[in-house]
Amino acid sequence: MTSPEPPAAPPLLEVRGLVKRFGGFRALDGVSFTLRAGEILGLVGPNGSGKTTTLNVISGLYAPEAGEVRFAGRPLRGLSPRARVHRGINRTFQSPRPFASLSVRENVRLAARFGGRDAAPERIEALLERLGLARWAARPAAELNTGQQKRLDLARALATRPRLLLVDEIAAGLNPAELESMAELLAALAAGGTALLVVEHLLGFLGRLTERVIVMNAGREIFEGRLAEASRDAEVVRVFLGEAARR
Ligand SMILES: Nc1ncnc2c1ncn2[C@@H]1O[C@H](COP(=O)(O)OP(=O)(O)OP(=O)(O)O)[C@@H](O)[C@H]1O
Ligand SMILES: [Mg+2]
Repeated sequence: MTSPEPPAAPPLLEVRGLVKRFGGFRALDGVSFTLRAGEILGLVGPNGSGKTTTLNVISGLYAPEAGEVRFAGRPLRGLSPRARVHRGINRTFQSPRPFASLSVRENVRLAARFGGRDAAPERIEALLERLGLARWAARPAAELNTGQQKRLDLARALATRPRLLLVDEIAAGLNPAELESMAELLAALAAGGTALLVVEHLLGFLGRLTERVIVMNAGREIFEGRLAEASRDAEVVRVFLGEAARR
């Protein structure tokens, strides 16, 4: 007799039927998916399809008009972004906005405090080292180039020890060497048990991290499955070719 399979761990993140309106416009029109600890899920789609809005609702910047987000089995409804950071959810931004006049180090230290986490110097220095920012630690954040700003934004998120990390187009503007180390870093985070939701236009970069993707268009999922299969899906192809034609 075979022993029964152990029950699968419940998903860390459960997103069900999210609707987000801006005036009469539905930026999200019923988005649902789940994510487990240590998993990476890619979120792709044309400009304006609702990817960032999905992250904004999960991180608590916007309240949805319908649907719900559950984290570690509990609903997040009504919790502020900061309360969500304390629960273990943090994110990076499509356009990072560090405190420009503060040093790189001070930006990371403030983030750790905001998240209610250990801001001891050794911990901050280790994070700066891991993100390749140690050489710029004392410089004002305003002096960083695009790649460094993206890494600082990630360092700020990691300073709060997220169990779920939401990543918004972190590869944009990185050079090949930076892309390589960023992909390795995100993969290592997932290997360590962090769940990652990765919004990305650069499919080569995403493909190095995961095969599991959701494709969105106009606030809805039009595909969920393997990245390699998305490129053979008729609706996905139509949506992306349509976008290319508008450019
Ligand atoms: N705060 C807001 N007020 C009004 N409309 C908004 C707001 N935020 C997003 N939208 C609209 O919602 C739609 C989805 O935007 P969103 O930023 O989620 O797209 P996206 O998929 O991240 O696009 P991109 O790839 O260009 O970053 C767009 O039409 C956008 O203009
Ligand atoms: Mg976006």
